[in-house]
Amino acid sequence: MHLKGGFFQVVNHGIQVSVLEEMIHGARRFFEQDTKVKKKWYTRDRTKRVVYNCNFDLYSPTAANWRDTTYSVMAPNPPAPEELPDVCSEILTDYSKQVMNLGCLLLELLSEGLGLDPSYLEGIDCGEGLSVLCHYYPACPQPELTFGSSPHSDNDFFTILLQDNLGGLQVLHQNQWVDVPPTPGALVTNIGDLLQIISNDKYKSSEHRVLAKRVGPRVSIASFFTPDVRATGKLYGPIKELLSEENPPKYRETTAKEYTDYFRAKGLDGTSALLHFKL
Ligand code: OGA
Ligand code: NI
Repeated sequence: MHLKGGFFQVVNHGIQVSVLEEMIHGARRFFEQDTKVKKKWYTRDRTKRVVYNCNFDLYSPTAANWRDTTYSVMAPNPPAPEELPDVCSEILTDYSKQVMNLGCLLLELLSEGLGLDPSYLEGIDCGEGLSVLCHYYPACPQPELTFGSSPHSDNDFFTILLQDNLGGLQVLHQNQWVDVPPTPGALVTNIGDLLQIISNDKYKSSEHRVLAKRVGPRVSIASFFTPDVRATGKLYGPIKELLSEENPPKYRETTAKEYTDYFRAKGLDGTSALLHFKL
C-alpha cells in the first residue's frame, strides 16, 4: 500500500480483474442506454435507494460538474435484482459483496492503526452501510471551463474507488494537486470526513477532484462506506478510548443524516463540511 495525503492504492485485494472490468463495463452499459430507458431511474428524491442523476448539488450555489451518476444503497439491505437496472444488476450485486469484504478487512487495519482492537470499527457499524456510485464523465469539449468533480472530501468513513484507465483523479497533497494514476487491478482507497471525526483527526480525509477531459467517457465506481442516513439516529463523535487531557475532542457528535444534510446543502464548493462540526 502506498499512502499519499490520505489516499492509497490497494493491490492483491482478492477481487478478480474480470470482476473489476465487468463492473466498469456494466456501468458504461447503463449510461449508454437510450435516455428513455434511463429516465425510469432519474430522480432527485434523496430517500430513493436507486437513483440516476447528475450533480446531487445542482441546486446549491456551486458550479455544475461534467458527469452523470447512479447511486445505489447496497448494504445493509441490498435491493432486489429487479430494483436495479437490468444491464448491471448482477455485477453490481456481486461487486458490492466483494467490496464489502475488502472494506471489512480495511476496517481491521484502520482499527489497529488507532491502537484499538481490530474489530473496533466494525463494532461501531463502520462496515454496515455501503452505497455504490457509478460515475460517467463524458468527453468535454471545453475542459478548462469546468470539472468532472469539483474539489471535495467524501462524507463517509472511507471510499474504495475503481477507476478505468483514462485518469483525471487528483488529490491535494501539501497544497499541490497530484495525479492518482490508474493502476491496472488496483483499487484506490481514501479516508472520508466521518472517519476523521471519530478518529479525532488521527486519520485525515483528503481533498480530491476529477479534471474534465477532452477524451472520454471516463467511468469510475466509488463505494462509500457510510451509515444509512434513513435507518439510524446513531451519534458519531471522537472515539472515547482515543481521548485524554492531551487529546481532547475536536468535534461535536453528529448523526450521519445531519452530516450528510449539511454536506449536500453546502454543495461541492471547495470548502470542508468538517469545519461546521469543530468544537
Ligand atoms: C467521489 C469521487 C472520484 C472519481 O465519488 O466522491 O471523488 O474518480 N470520485 O470518480
Ligand atoms: Ni470523492
